[in-house]
Amino acid sequence: MCGIVGYAGARPALSIVLDGLRRLEYRGYDSAGVAIVGAGAGSGSLLICKRAGKLANLEKALAEESAGEDSPLAGIDSGTTGIGHTRWATHGAPTDRNAHPHPSRHGDLAVIHNGIIENFARLRAELEADSVEFRSDTDTECAAHLLERELAGVRAEIAARGGDGLDAEVRAEALAEAMRRVCRRLEGAFTLLAVDAATPDVVVGARRNSPLVVGRGQGENFLASDVAAFVEHTRDAIELGQDQVVLITPERIEITDFDGKPAAGKDFHVDWDAKAAEKGGYDWFMLKEIQEQPQAVAETLLGRLTESGEIMLDEVRLTDQDLRAADKIFIVACGTAYHAGLVAKYAIEHWTRIPCEVELASEFRYRDPVLDRSTLVVVISQSGETMDTLMALRHAKEQKARVLAICNTNGSTIPRESDAVLYTHGGPEIAVASTKAFLTQLVACYLIGLHLAQVRGVKFADEVAAVVAQLQEMPAKLRTLLDRMEPVRELARELKSVPTVLFIGRHVGYPVALEGALKLKELAYIHAEGFASGELKHGPIAVIDRGTPVVCIVPSPAGRGLLHDKMISNIQEVRARGARTIVIAEEGDEAVLPYADHVIFVPPTPTLLAPLVTTVPLQVLAAEIASARGHDVDQPRNLAKSVTVE
Ligand code: G6P
Repeated sequence: MCGIVGYAGARPALSIVLDGLRRLEYRGYDSAGVAIVGAGAGSGSLLICKRAGKLANLEKALAEESAGEDSPLAGIDSGTTGIGHTRWATHGAPTDRNAHPHPSRHGDLAVIHNGIIENFARLRAELEADSVEFRSDTDTECAAHLLERELAGVRAEIAARGGDGLDAEVRAEALAEAMRRVCRRLEGAFTLLAVDAATPDVVVGARRNSPLVVGRGQGENFLASDVAAFVEHTRDAIELGQDQVVLITPERIEITDFDGKPAAGKDFHVDWDAKAAEKGGYDWFMLKEIQEQPQAVAETLLGRLTESGEIMLDEVRLTDQDLRAADKIFIVACGTAYHAGLVAKYAIEHWTRIPCEVELASEFRYRDPVLDRSTLVVVISQSGETMDTLMALRHAKEQKARVLAICNTNGSTIPRESDAVLYTHGGPEIAVASTKAFLTQLVACYLIGLHLAQVRGVKFADEVAAVVAQLQEMPAKLRTLLDRMEPVRELARELKSVPTVLFIGRHVGYPVALEGALKLKELAYIHAEGFASGELKHGPIAVIDRGTPVVCIVPSPAGRGLLHDKMISNIQEVRARGARTIVIAEEGDEAVLPYADHVIFVPPTPTLLAPLVTTVPLQVLAAEIASARGHDVDQPRNLAKSVTVE
């Protein structure tokens, strides 16, 4: 979703802001823009440039409009204060005029925004009644006009008190106060940043229900929706709390609540560097992230088992007694994270014997789920900012349920509001479609299942250690598997023009089928659906035609022989109706060969852990089909990495 960057320092802001936006591109966007406080001849003015489409369009416009002394944006590359935005359209189409920043009526102020201002219609009517002419269809523009009005009011009050309206600190504080007044009037979710031509060296930001972090530099400070935007300049960050306003100058960072009371953010150190967020020789981030999975799984497992054999979470604001008292578990998440939850249900119920339901976060709170203090709600979110998941979490907490988060992003909102957290140490995931985050979420779910089983006394330390040892073998298995993906790539090229692909599986293979279908839809824009194999005969089998590709996820024949045999029967059923079968099976499982048009073997893995390997060929298949079709693998159309609206 929208990416936000702000800079106040001594270096040219434009290039820093553009670099930051580039690092946030992965979030998905459809237009981009910058506002730089003019320097030198341009001082006292605000230089704004914005364009629909990719950053390249903005850069082209900047180059054209800043060349020559008389050009409209002359000097934009020397200003040292600025803001930039990549927009994912909510109110109004992705056009130049709807792109951010939005200037105020007199053009001295500009605002960028992520989120949705829910009372914007009322505010717009009020402003229009005050003769403000709107130049866009966005909700954001209201904030720009309101800020101008409030700032005029604050300055008038300062003048009336006899204050020095020209003093830089007084002006900066006036801008922050005006922002606080605006925020008090807004409903909904927002991160806002503003710059003012008459207050050079200052960027003011605010947040409610939407992320904003501060980067603390030497003689320069940053604001951004995510640390990736400034991590190449500083790894010292401050996470802002809910309903806070922040003012940065090159030397100062001042945080208050919306009423002006001084507040403190939470300092943290980013434990990865800018390199981790670069492509490292791969054509696409997604391909790099697929290859990083062995490492990501290993990191997530690192140091989880104490000497006495207990599983360690990262942050626990719950007692073991709370966990023992849990009589029901809900796992709540969206997209790929939801599929991780579906897998987790099999492991958690099997290991803990506690009933476990998995629910889409966007549905959860609206159906009035039965929750109380003995319900444990596990929320899974790579970004930690997904609004549907956050709202589900808040609903669960209002009902007094305990909430445990699985998250990949330190300091994000979801873990902060949860009672306990297990961080997946997957490193930054840039591609919109989730891959390594999924595998690490699976690992985290297994660890939580084991932890609960242990706390409740249904698994002993040695049993837990045995499963952890199996998990520890996974990075090596994944490495072997990833080295054997060439046939999958070849198959992808053959399949690049098919209109539809079906995925079938049983038990934990069923969520893997759903995830395989989701990946293909997201990346290749091909119709794809995942089914529980046993359900095929109740309807979906009707769509199978001669040559329809069906990807079949076969469980290991070891341990659960019956499950394996039933799956083989299902493959025969689709083959008999003309399907082209692509079978994912365990090495040595020769029983599948007579029914498989293509076989992809994965290393032998205990049934419950098998999704860690069976998912990988499906990721590669989707990425390669997308690339063969000429799509942008990292930023599929219409999608966003971090979905901060409901
Ligand atoms: C978006 C992304 C998906 C992701 C989902 C949940 O829709 O495109 O890849 O699975 O959000 O994201 P989260 O950050 O909460 O895991």
